[in-house]
Amino acid sequence: MTRIAVVEGDGIGREVVPVAAAALQVLRPEWEQLPVELGLERWRRTGTALDEADLEVLRSSDAVLFGAVSSAPNGEYPSVVLALRRALGLYANIRPVLGGGADLVVVRENSEGLYAGRERIEADRACTERVITRAATERIARLACRLAAGRRHLTIGHKANVLAADRFFLGIARGVAAAEGVPVDDAFIDALCLDVLRRPGRYDVILVENMFGDILSDVAAFHVGGLGLLPSANLGERHTLFEPVHGSAPDIAGRGIANPTAALRSAAMLLDHLGDTGAAERLNIAIEEVMARGLRTPDLGGTASTLEFGDAVLAALEKRG
Ligand code: NAI
Ligand code: MG
Repeated sequence: MTRIAVVEGDGIGREVVPVAAAALQVLRPEWEQLPVELGLERWRRTGTALDEADLEVLRSSDAVLFGAVSSAPNGEYPSVVLALRRALGLYANIRPVLGGGADLVVVRENSEGLYAGRERIEADRACTERVITRAATERIARLACRLAAGRRHLTIGHKANVLAADRFFLGIARGVAAAEGVPVDDAFIDALCLDVLRRPGRYDVILVENMFGDILSDVAAFHVGGLGLLPSANLGERHTLFEPVHGSAPDIAGRGIANPTAALRSAAMLLDHLGDTGAAERLNIAIEEVMARGLRTPDLGGTASTLEFGDAVLAALEKRG
């Protein structure tokens, strides 16, 4: 029995995840969905944002469908997103960008680099260490190569002209690509950010370390007309978590106007990852059909509510059987 943990989280996570979960229910009614409550709202109510029992449910499920959690306004509770990433060993963040001339995938190393948490602040000096290890670089490079093998080629983004850690990263990643027989090139990350905007069609799979990936994936998202459309996958050796790129959007939360497309596309990535390519495709086609009819949520200039858009996608799915 396939078990999917469903985490709405905070803010618009509570509005868009139910739409994506309903689509999963239509496509795979036999899958068990396990709701897990985490995040700021739960922390405010109970004093706990995430506990060991929640992690147990997440770890025992085949995949996690995730909305977003709000960070605490004054850092009163530690980042749930980082805690989940560590607890589930989610070392890769995969962000497909499809639209506006782009059909590319940013593969971001998600466990080390500047976000490894090795930092200190002294009176007149602050220091954050950028840690790149051989094991983590090989692991993410192999994953990027697997993705690139079914597509066109791999580009490695880096700053090897300045940073020793990047020469190390580049050398290892190139070696993995050569061993796997994947066509590879590389580019300086700053120039790459501009070129991805100017010539998106040149790029296919782009491999980057943690912070460069954080920035580059937002830059590439320019081609797609908004955060409400972008899905992502977080992959580990044993666990996977699928979530929209966007956060909890407190500015529009509770109004029923959030765009559920990113959450729906995240559900499609989950289906694809669990081997149901057909259902993933059906879901993506249903979204396209509804968009082609001109139905839009307010972020894209329309007037449809989250539920109106979601119901239209569900109807399109059911009509096609
Ligand atoms: P955000 O992505 O929540 O919102 C940025 C802007 O995009 C807002 O104007 C919002 O209304 C709009 N937007 C986002 N998703 C939308 C959708 N589906 N439909 C229509 N409009 C949409 O980013 P922000 O404001 O920086 O962060 C808000 C909170 O979310 C923070 O507490 C942040 O820490 C958290 N966050 C959580 C993430 C996660 O759980 N993985 C990721 C990013 C942010
Ligand atoms: Mg970001």
